[in-house]
Amino acid sequence: RGTAGRTILPFKAITPVASTEDTFVVPQGYTWDPIIRWGDPILPGGVPFDVNSQTAEKQALAWGYNNDYTDVIVTNKAGTKALLCCNNEYVNPNIMFPPGLDATEQLKIAMAAHGFGIVELERSAPGEKWTYVPSAPKNRRITASTPFKLTGPAAGSDLLKTAADPTGTVALGTIGNCSGGTTPWGTILSGEENFNGYFHATGTSAEEKRYGLADKPSTYGWEAIEPRFDARSADYANEPNRFGYIVEIDPTDPTSMPKKHTSMGRLKHEGANVIVADNGHVVAYMGDDERFDYLYKFVSKGRYNPTDRRRNLTLLDEGDLYVARFHGDSPASEIDGTGTLPSDGQFDGYGQWIPLVKNGRSQIAGMSVEQVLVYTRLAADKAGATKMDRCEDVQPSPKTGKVYVACTNNSQRGTTGKAPADEPNPRNTNRDGHIVEITEDDGDHTSRVFRWNLVIVAGDPAVNGATYFAGYPKDKVSPISCPDNLAFDSEGNLWISTDGAPSSIQKLDGLFKVPLAGPERGHVQQFLAVPRDAETCGPVIHDRDGSVFVAVQHPGEEGTWEAPNSYFPDYVEGTAAEGDFRGPRPAVVQVRKA
Ligand code: FEO
Ligand code: CA
Ligand code: CA
Ligand code: CA
Repeated sequence: RGTAGRTILPFKAITPVASTEDTFVVPQGYTWDPIIRWGDPILPGGVPFDVNSQTAEKQALAWGYNNDYTDVIVTNKAGTKALLCCNNEYVNPNIMFPPGLDATEQLKIAMAAHGFGIVELERSAPGEKWTYVPSAPKNRRITASTPFKLTGPAAGSDLLKTAADPTGTVALGTIGNCSGGTTPWGTILSGEENFNGYFHATGTSAEEKRYGLADKPSTYGWEAIEPRFDARSADYANEPNRFGYIVEIDPTDPTSMPKKHTSMGRLKHEGANVIVADNGHVVAYMGDDERFDYLYKFVSKGRYNPTDRRRNLTLLDEGDLYVARFHGDSPASEIDGTGTLPSDGQFDGYGQWIPLVKNGRSQIAGMSVEQVLVYTRLAADKAGATKMDRCEDVQPSPKTGKVYVACTNNSQRGTTGKAPADEPNPRNTNRDGHIVEITEDDGDHTSRVFRWNLVIVAGDPAVNGATYFAGYPKDKVSPISCPDNLAFDSEGNLWISTDGAPSSIQKLDGLFKVPLAGPERGHVQQFLAVPRDAETCGPVIHDRDGSVFVAVQHPGEEGTWEAPNSYFPDYVEGTAAEGDFRGPRPAVVQVRKA
């Protein structure tokens, strides 16, 4: 049963799957196929993937590792051609490389497996399975070495200059790309999230500490082959300042230079989703995914013009930047950290968007506009923003304009020395996360005030009473934990992918649908589950086409080369020594009606 009993993509919720299973589960009547896997060749000169003869050169011509943000943009009227656009957040060397592969080559392969990929898709007819087209004209790889243009007020500032780029205007590569969004003018936005782990820094300044930059070897050790990842040197002290942005990529033009927008601030950007306000300004909603960090919005200076794409491509270069402050409407004494609803029956209240930059000028005493945009977290600290339980995807509904914020979890809420529960983050040691619903004043996305309420307080209601599903009967919902990426279908239902359910509720992560209006509001139904150790990314809901796409990220990441935890997506029998790759390959999957 779907929305009011009728829905375009009906399904019966799957049974939640134990977290130890290595299986991809879809509802009855649906089938699934991987469209493209890590290592599949996409550019001219690429060769079929062979795990035992990997080189950086081959990787740079092939699909990258660990896709997160995903979109499928149909490009012809017949519905038989499309562009698949995906970022590559990070790598899992422990399960990627055979023993004996040269250590330096491993570092280079890892750099080439990061970034972004665009590949053309084709199929025989709508509703059918998509296949990718090797060496198609729009295919492209962007890696940890690709030049990006820095735009906006901080571009060219002293804070962004390095020995290799004394202009402070061109940064090499993108890393840690998490979620993202597709703009009305057809570009892809992607958030540079956990960039700090790629640097060995001094870790001494307040700014470096606030971003988690530390005096320890980087996670992957790229500083051994590229001096810019050693930020202890005077030459590259500013290199980390060139990461942590929203990047914009035009998938229709493989020769275009991608951008990093300083106007949208520097933080551990989860992603950005754009909506055109009624007055024509474009508004981007953005989360900073760290415990006790903030929710942001950007309002463009210029206005969207559907007939002037060239100008739209510059809309995110300039605008105002805000951070959210939430106020609850229930007495603080009724917010006891357990998640019990207050006496008004709602976790709700109003909120303010506090300006950090307005009309090109800093709104923070003692900070220049460049400092606000490069050290955005410190500016937001001074502005008195509300500490949230890890804002992941933030997405406006194309149907209602309401904005949804996935707060994934925060195990430290209310622990010693940390901020206690408040009405927008009402559970201490919040394992399961929640979803905030925001209604901008008068429906105006450029507004400075809003109303908010929690629409879902997640968890397994069978064992956790402190859960809430917009008042829907708890015994009829699928258990859900750690909401991460969000998407909408054409009917305005919210789709939620999760990352972390194995540790919180001992179930595989998955994809869930929840209607937001009518009698079915709050009825969470699980659509699919992803294999062991994987997180569900994407998602892309083409309900009118009978298709759903997800990126299966880091399947089997807790395993080893010798003892894989997952064999997804091909479940090949045999051994690596025989030339069959047994281990997992992150892949983009199409699920469709059988
Ligand atoms: Fe990369 Fe916030 O998840
Ligand atoms: Ca991820
Ligand atoms: Ca209340
Ligand atoms: Ca995420």
